[in-house]
Amino acid sequence: MTFSHQTPAVKAAAGCHVSLSTEKDEFNWEFLFTRSIEFRQETIYFIIVDRFLDGDDRNNPGFNPNLYDLSRHYWGKYWGGDIQGIIDKLDYLKNMGITALWISPLFEQVESLQFDNAPMHGYWTKDFKRINPRFLALGEENSLSKCTALNRLVEKAHSLGIKIILDIVCNHSSPDVSGEKGKLYDDGVLIADFYNDTHNWYYHNPEITDWENEYQLLYYEMAGLATFNESNIEYRNYIKSAIKQWLDIGIDALRIDTVKHMPLWFWQEFLGDLKTHRPDLFAFGEWGFSNPKDGKSPNFANESGMSILDFGLSGAIRECLAKNATGGFHLIQEVFNLDYLYNNATELITFFDNHDMPRFGSLNPDGNALRLAVALIMTCRGIPCIYYGTEQYLHNDTNGGEDPYNRPMMEKWDTDTPIYQDLSKLSKLRKINPAVSLGSQVEKYINNDIYCFLRRYRDFRCLVCINKSYTHQTIQLTNTELMDDEYYCMLTGSSIEVINGNVSNLQLPPQSVFVFSLMGNKVKGKTIVRVQINGISTKLGESIIVTGDCPELGNWDITKGYRLEYINPNTWFGEISFNESAGKAIAYKYALVKGNQEVIRENIAVRRWILAEEGIAKWVDFWNTP
Ligand code: NOJ
Repeated sequence: MTFSHQTPAVKAAAGCHVSLSTEKDEFNWEFLFTRSIEFRQETIYFIIVDRFLDGDDRNNPGFNPNLYDLSRHYWGKYWGGDIQGIIDKLDYLKNMGITALWISPLFEQVESLQFDNAPMHGYWTKDFKRINPRFLALGEENSLSKCTALNRLVEKAHSLGIKIILDIVCNHSSPDVSGEKGKLYDDGVLIADFYNDTHNWYYHNPEITDWENEYQLLYYEMAGLATFNESNIEYRNYIKSAIKQWLDIGIDALRIDTVKHMPLWFWQEFLGDLKTHRPDLFAFGEWGFSNPKDGKSPNFANESGMSILDFGLSGAIRECLAKNATGGFHLIQEVFNLDYLYNNATELITFFDNHDMPRFGSLNPDGNALRLAVALIMTCRGIPCIYYGTEQYLHNDTNGGEDPYNRPMMEKWDTDTPIYQDLSKLSKLRKINPAVSLGSQVEKYINNDIYCFLRRYRDFRCLVCINKSYTHQTIQLTNTELMDDEYYCMLTGSSIEVINGNVSNLQLPPQSVFVFSLMGNKVKGKTIVRVQINGISTKLGESIIVTGDCPELGNWDITKGYRLEYINPNTWFGEISFNESAGKAIAYKYALVKGNQEVIRENIAVRRWILAEEGIAKWVDFWNTP
């Protein structure tokens, strides 16, 4: 199937992410985009819109001035941040190395207080097809089809190479405010009301009391929020059509709220439909307190069609670096040791604080410790997400910094803070060194206070060494897998010398981090396929190759197949460059080999693919599964 008349969305998709010849009208989009897009080189920054910058103070009082607090003393009220404020700071963010902005929900909210709290956070939606007027210019129409503020944000962000991630909520609308609950509008037209639910848009179950009870999690209420009944096709059509409208404005990715509270089938259908609309969509979900140990969250990440926020790693980083807990870096390594449970651990969203937990700085005001945490998530596996203000050491410690004190107003915009500077360098590293964005992660040295790990992909390497203690440490680092040479830390300029693969007497000052990057040869070609296979376990000395009916895959000669890279016990990855076969149909399979000896091939009918004539495609396959 070819699209001779591309939809604006498909054109936008091409413009945003894929280096294709867009002048060409006839193109096999279907085959190019049936799998998810690459987001792993991004550096995400999470903004609570109301608390970032008041770019236009005329909109502050809103329809109900009682919800706004000019003095900024009432933490539950609006404080004035808006879309213009974000636009005004895009250059600041760009120079810090931010490449994707996760912005808190922009949907129109109920205009009432619940115990002195207004929905400044954006999670009490009234109309999914309208924007919160408090975030717009005064008098600007807030229907998504008419207002222009978001378009301006998207346009300027894209012109600076910054993607926009919209925070969406499918699980619920609003709680009881002023005697109304769950009143929902479709671009201004009332379509559902929790207290007069004639068309069964909502569940009417009690509050969740047992957080281990699967049924309660899916169908009961959370914090009194009107919970949608996803079995109702009218609801599903409404929410999908609303989110598609946002995507058509040019939103690049979605952060999806409370995904644990809706059934897996809903997410599979929802994302399936959205990705048909926007094949290059990347999405990640908030599976509350996900942890690889629970078994359930990795399954969700593997089966839903979206990645998830890595709460397991976040908890370990907080324990290790903010609280200096017993176990130190071993707590972090324990999380990485379970990466094989995910089909795509390198796409997990890594963070160490957010709007629902005390900021790192409230747990530990030591800015050096925060700096180490930032460097860690910028270099370890996964896609890093920085909570707004981290670079300015922003925190308010009232009540231990718990919500709402974790959402202070952004106060400073210094571009010379150590974290701002580190971010700008490390974000570039993520862009240019695929060992950091795509590669495997190998522990090289660990104790409670010191952690050295290597990121590895093809001939690219990145060695990271962290000392969190308050004392100078000297260690012997062996088997670095770096070629013998002198290497310079990209953050400090200090050098190390690798001799016979080892670094003797590596000097690690108190609370220090070193990042040594070694660049290799980029894969080039007309069409590049990023290949990932899961679900095959290999023994030492064994590897996975892709064999197929074209020269690039050895024409079924197993000794000439394309050898993939080991990422973790569940993942092999590679980038295959196609020149001769670009634009042609090919067939392929995976095989497990030892040296050049075939051990076993997949026992399935061959996989088929039509290669684009140019650009980047992605195969995400599971062993023995068509
Ligand atoms: C999780 C969000 O992160 C949180 O801030 C919000 O209040 C709840 N979901 C409910 O939407």
